Amino acid sequence: MATIFPTPLISFFLSLIIFTTASETDLLLTFKTSISDPLNSLSIWSNTSQTHFCNWTGITCTKSPPSVQTLNLQNLNLSGEISPSICQLPNLSNLNLANNFFNQLIPLRLSQCTSLQTLNLSNNLLWGTIPDQVSHFSSLKVLDLSKNHLQGQIPHTLASLKSLQVLNLANNWFSGKLPSSVFGNLSELLLLDLSENPFLMSEIPQELGKLETVQQILLQRSNFYGGIPSSFVGLLGLEVLDLSQNNLTGTIPLGLGLGLGKLISLDISQNKLSGSFPTDICLGKGLINLSLHTNFFTGLMPDSLEKCLNLERIQVQNNGFSGDFPYGLWTLPKLKLIRAENNRFSGEIPSSISMAAQLEQIQIDNNSFTGRIPQGLGLISSMYRFSASLNGFYGDLPNNFCDSPVMSIINLSHNSLSGRIPEIKKCRKLVSLSLADNSFTGNIPVSLSELPVLTYIDLSNNNLSGEIPLGLQNLKLALFNVSFNRLSGSVPFSLISGLPASFLQGNPDLCGPGLPNLCTNEVPKKRSVRPTGLICALVSIAFVVGFMIVAAGLFVMCRSSHNKSFSGNWKSVSFYPLRVTQQDLFMGMDERNIVGRGAFGNVYIIHLPSGEFIAVKKLVNVGSLSSKALKTEMKILAKVRHKNMAKLLGFCFSDESIFLIYEYVHNGSLGDMLYGSDFSLEWSIRLQIAMGIARGLAYLHKDYVPRLLHRNIKSNNILLDMDFEPKITDFGLDRIVGESLYQSSMASELNPYYYMAPEHGCSKKATEQMDVYSFGVVLLELITGRKVEEPESVDYVDVVKWVRRKINMINGAYQVLDPKISNSSQQEMLGALEIALRCTSVMPEKRPTMFEVIRLLQSLESKPCPLTGFSISN
Ligand SMILES: *[C@@H]1O[C@H](CO)[C@@H](O)[C@H](O)[C@H]1NC(C)=O
Ligand SMILES: *[C@@H]1O[C@H](CO)[C@@H](O)[C@H](O)[C@H]1NC(C)=O
Ligand SMILES: *[C@@H]1O[C@H](CO)[C@@H](O)[C@H](O)[C@H]1NC(C)=O
Ligand SMILES: *[C@@H]1O[C@H](CO)[C@@H](O)[C@H](O)[C@H]1NC(C)=O
Ligand SMILES: *[C@@H]1O[C@H](CO)[C@@H](O)[C@H](O)[C@H]1NC(C)=O
Ligand SMILES: *[C@@H]1O[C@H](CO)[C@@H](O)[C@H](O)[C@H]1NC(C)=O
Ligand SMILES: *[C@@H]1O[C@H](CO)[C@@H](O)[C@H](O)[C@H]1NC(C)=O
Ligand SMILES: *[C@@H]1O[C@H](CO)[C@@H](O)[C@H](O)[C@H]1NC(C)=O
Ligand SMILES: *[C@@H]1O[C@H](CO)[C@@H](O)[C@H](O)[C@H]1NC(C)=O
Ligand SMILES: *[C@@H]1O[C@H](CO)[C@@H](O)[C@H](O)[C@H]1NC(C)=O
Repeated sequence: MATIFPTPLISFFLSLIIFTTASETDLLLTFKTSISDPLNSLSIWSNTSQTHFCNWTGITCTKSPPSVQTLNLQNLNLSGEISPSICQLPNLSNLNLANNFFNQLIPLRLSQCTSLQTLNLSNNLLWGTIPDQVSHFSSLKVLDLSKNHLQGQIPHTLASLKSLQVLNLANNWFSGKLPSSVFGNLSELLLLDLSENPFLMSEIPQELGKLETVQQILLQRSNFYGGIPSSFVGLLGLEVLDLSQNNLTGTIPLGLGLGLGKLISLDISQNKLSGSFPTDICLGKGLINLSLHTNFFTGLMPDSLEKCLNLERIQVQNNGFSGDFPYGLWTLPKLKLIRAENNRFSGEIPSSISMAAQLEQIQIDNNSFTGRIPQGLGLISSMYRFSASLNGFYGDLPNNFCDSPVMSIINLSHNSLSGRIPEIKKCRKLVSLSLADNSFTGNIPVSLSELPVLTYIDLSNNNLSGEIPLGLQNLKLALFNVSFNRLSGSVPFSLISGLPASFLQGNPDLCGPGLPNLCTNEVPKKRSVRPTGLICALVSIAFVVGFMIVAAGLFVMCRSSHNKSFSGNWKSVSFYPLRVTQQDLFMGMDERNIVGRGAFGNVYIIHLPSGEFIAVKKLVNVGSLSSKALKTEMKILAKVRHKNMAKLLGFCFSDESIFLIYEYVHNGSLGDMLYGSDFSLEWSIRLQIAMGIARGLAYLHKDYVPRLLHRNIKSNNILLDMDFEPKITDFGLDRIVGESLYQSSMASELNPYYYMAPEHGCSKKATEQMDVYSFGVVLLELITGRKVEEPESVDYVDVVKWVRRKINMINGAYQVLDPKISNSSQQEMLGALEIALRCTSVMPEKRPTMFEVIRLLQSLESKPCPLTGFSISN
């Protein structure tokens, strides 16, 4: 084909291309000189660079001839001046400088860029007003000035930007009234965003209703007042309307629902709107009755019910709406979210709600809804939140009310529901169940204890009877309120010890330790021997419960002046409702009950007359803290609440000694287990133990206030419960006995020496890194199955040195792994070994934090390892 053209013509074209190329390069370089580019993102923009400007950062060119079409320099921390030189780029149509630090007036001279169609200056530091000359940007289709500091009135002259499709002025400091005339002229507009302009003082102009093609109108949080214009009824293309968090009053324009066939999201929440909704919203005219019948009997949608078929989200909460909630809204096929709480809506939820098969969330608390909870609700398998408290629902709960497999929050408190609470089996993701303040009767469903993540149960103020299901103590409950029912029988132990007694009040027939009634089978045998004055008052702590529990202390003192065998003035404080007398403690302090001996004193397991066990640590050599300071410190320790920290139930003290009362943990200490001859926990459990210890320590180090150090992590201080969940004990003793006594006592103890970080000797201050080191040693014990020291062995070294020596040999890493564990866990164990070596690094600053340790351990768990118990080798 080329032969058709004479050669001179070709070279003419070539020279033309080279000419334009050169000049565009120069224009870009001129633009660059006025810009400050701290990250050097534009380093490739240079004369000397071999790269064609079309391949420079942020530039996209037209095909042929190559010429700059788009300049996209967002997110580069640029500042300086936006030079209008780029307006001479003949084909520049998109300029995006969003997310930078340009601090200037709106660069009006860019309006000279005749081919500019998109201008995005969002998220800079632009200031000043929009001047009238903005009308010069006559060919703009997209103008985004959001997230700047623009002020003043929005000018009338915007009306000249007739091709505008996107106008985003959100998140600025505009003030005054919106010019009503502007919007009638922007006939191409698709998106109007004026949200988050807190200084506007304007009504919503009627003219907005003329934007026939507009798809999104976002006016939230901009201080609009007055009514919703009736002209909005004509917005036939509208998909998203957000008028939330303004000061709007009046009613919904009659017929608003009728036109909005494309509407996907309607948010008019948090205004002062009132009146009733047009009942025909989302229904064809006069179809209400017809649809009622059709829905009930055939479950089919009448053909003419064609409105709002695209609606996914409707939010009208926190207004003053009244009247029946529009019936047609309950059955829309694409609807996901209904929020209407805190209004005065009435009406019923129809059973045909099951047609809204994509519904995920309904929040209609605090209205005047009545009727029954329909069966149809349970058929919606995407539902995860149903919150309808403070209404007038009555009748039985349908058996399927919690059948959705993703259901996680149900709140039906403060209604008039009655009958039995159905057994709940299918909603295995249920987290929160509140049925408080209704008239339910019958038993607490046993099946609740089978729901693995249930954390919050409020059944207070009903008429429930029978016993509290024992299985509930397997749940990790943050709240279990059954107060004011007619429950009876004994309360499962862990419920009574783990939760405040106020959650049980108002059930006169419940019995158990800490309650007004002891159960008959646990009345202590030798009661007559005990002077009544000795019984410590049972004190519970008021909990503030969200999903986290924080305890605040309420202390009651009791003295035992009668007891001759223990001289001195004894005081005790309990943090949990625990029925223990000092007599019980003293009787239990028997050599036979000692389970551990440590630098500070012995640990006893005491079997109380009530049948429960507690662990008591007796600190003999107590420091010089005043009893007030001691109580303060104890309170700090008692408030440590974490699954992996042993609970401090209370304490007793005299001038000579302190008894710390801990929860009893079933499986003894990790140390006992390691030192037992048949230690053979499987790897998944060892990893779980390591993870638990890491979580407990991370909590002490970072989440707990005040931050605590443990200072004495060793396998003997890790207790294991029935499921091998570790519980760290002995934390914070330094705070009780005082620093100097703590150090001298620790020095006298041989064993912990091996758990101590090497810098311990030369550094006065205890650090987090020292705890990390000790953790690393415990992790090595878990990996190797070796005790921290093996006195009998020939190469008598501690586990850290032993491992370090071994791994220097060929295949040494494999040799340190506990041979009792099967090869299939080898990879995970090697990974854990690497973590343990980092934790036991000689250089404190090379050790990871406990949070990093958690993350590293988690990354080892390739697959979730189910708890399969442990095996004992023969
Ligand atoms: C941009 O770079 C690519 C390869 O890196 C090259 O193929 C292309 O020709 C360059 N474009 C221009 C206009 O130089
Ligand atoms: C860009 O600026 C922000 C805000 O000053 C800063 O946080 C960020 O680190 C900067 N980006 C880079 C890569 O320096
Ligand atoms: C680029 O601009 C020139 C001059 O205005 C024009 O002739 C040419 O058609 C444009 N090219 C493209 C691809 O728009
Ligand atoms: C402008 O740029 C920002 C940042 O990339 C982006 O989020 C926004 O959507 C852009 N505006 C328009 C209208 O495309
Ligand atoms: C808006 O449009 C009307 C009618 O087309 C016209 O008379 C008026 O001048 C326009 N307003 C502006 C500011 O362009
Ligand atoms: C809403 O309007 C009332 C009176 O019209 C005014 O007192 C109040 O400050 C406004 N509230 C907001 C958030 O603008
Ligand atoms: C219930 O809604 C009304 C407004 O209708 C409000 O004043 C009241 O505070 C709400 N009650 C609760 C408990 O949220
Ligand atoms: C249940 O609703 C009541 C009343 O609206 C409210 O006080 C309570 O916090 C809600 N419970 C949960 C768990 O959301
Ligand atoms: C509970 O049941 C008793 C007797 O059946 C009845 O008198 C009482 O009103 C009921 N209380 C509630 C809150 O429903
Ligand atoms: C437990 O329920 C009772 C009765 O409804 C209530 O008074 C108490 O505040 C509730 N406690 C908590 C912590 O929710």
